[in-house]
Amino acid sequence: EEQQSQARFDAIIDDDSRIEPRDWMPEAYRKTLTRQVSQHAHSEIIGMQPEANWITRAPSLKRKAILIAKVQDEAGHGLYLYSAAETLGTARDELNEQLLTGRAKYSSIFNYPARTWADMGAIGWLVDGAAIANQVPLCRASYGPYGRAMVRICKEESFHQRQGFEILLALSRGTEAQKKMAQDAINRFYEPSLMMFGPPDEQSPNSKQSMAWKIKRFSNDDLRQRFVGMIAEQVKVLGLTLPDPELRFDQESGKWIHKDLNWDEFMSVIKGGGPMNAHRMERRRAAHREGAWVREAAAAYANKQAQSEVA
Ligand code: ACO
Repeated sequence: EEQQSQARFDAIIDDDSRIEPRDWMPEAYRKTLTRQVSQHAHSEIIGMQPEANWITRAPSLKRKAILIAKVQDEAGHGLYLYSAAETLGTARDELNEQLLTGRAKYSSIFNYPARTWADMGAIGWLVDGAAIANQVPLCRASYGPYGRAMVRICKEESFHQRQGFEILLALSRGTEAQKKMAQDAINRFYEPSLMMFGPPDEQSPNSKQSMAWKIKRFSNDDLRQRFVGMIAEQVKVLGLTLPDPELRFDQESGKWIHKDLNWDEFMSVIKGGGPMNAHRMERRRAAHREGAWVREAAAAYANKQAQSEVA
């Protein structure tokens, strides 16, 4: 029977069709998806912090309203993704516990500080831009609930990217000091945003199997070079530069070549040693503690409703 189930699973994958929660799946498939989808959810939730910190300092009412909406979207993305992860059989409480105790990873990028208003632009343009480049192919991920969650998330992410670009565009057309602030933000976020795509292919332990299962459709390096090609063009519109003298399009391979990235720094950040790791985790734990009364009230209410249904 196990063999038959495996054959059915393989046929669905070969067909480019979708695995749904009640279908049989190999335990390793379930495990790697739970890992990736929950890490993705945690990233959305932790990723609210650098921008939420700027809501009170946004330079106008309009910018404030936009930023609030964006941070709220990220909370929503986290919720769809936790729901998708739960369909694989691990409860939300357990996933949350893995984050709060530091057992689960979340994206490296959110462990860097957002120092200036221009960073809100660089985060939107580069960080959300990298997120889209990585996530558009995930809309076709073989696991149904994940792929479907990605569709809506990508639509919202493209708004986020445009608002970031527009912040930088306004600054780049502003005073000398504003232009300098925009360039400085790009300089600081360029490398970390390229690292969001994960380690180089030869050091990516999960890629091969995840691509065979059609969870990932492209390799880390492949998506990274595509993204660099996109921003290499867009930065010209800003009249600013990318901090990468080696950046060029290689005719022969048809790929963009960028400078070597600091992978030691990446490893240190994903192990918890980034400039903001401790701060982000402390903030998340505090928010969870402070939200205890909401969870208790919701549980008490649900209990009461259930009682009155019985009566
Ligand atoms: N930040 C933190 N951890 C990372 C990162 C990163 N940028 N890139 C890779 N890792 C981790 C992997 O989770 C894996 O850890 P584990 O095996 O200990 O669990 C390890 O480094 C090795 O990497 P890979 O073998 O390449 O892992 P994988 O095949 O999962 O690829 C990738 C990594 C590309 C990030 C993939 O998981 C993915 O596409 N995830 C969905 C997108 C996502 O999570 N985006 C979050 C940021 S975007 C946003 O929230 C706005």
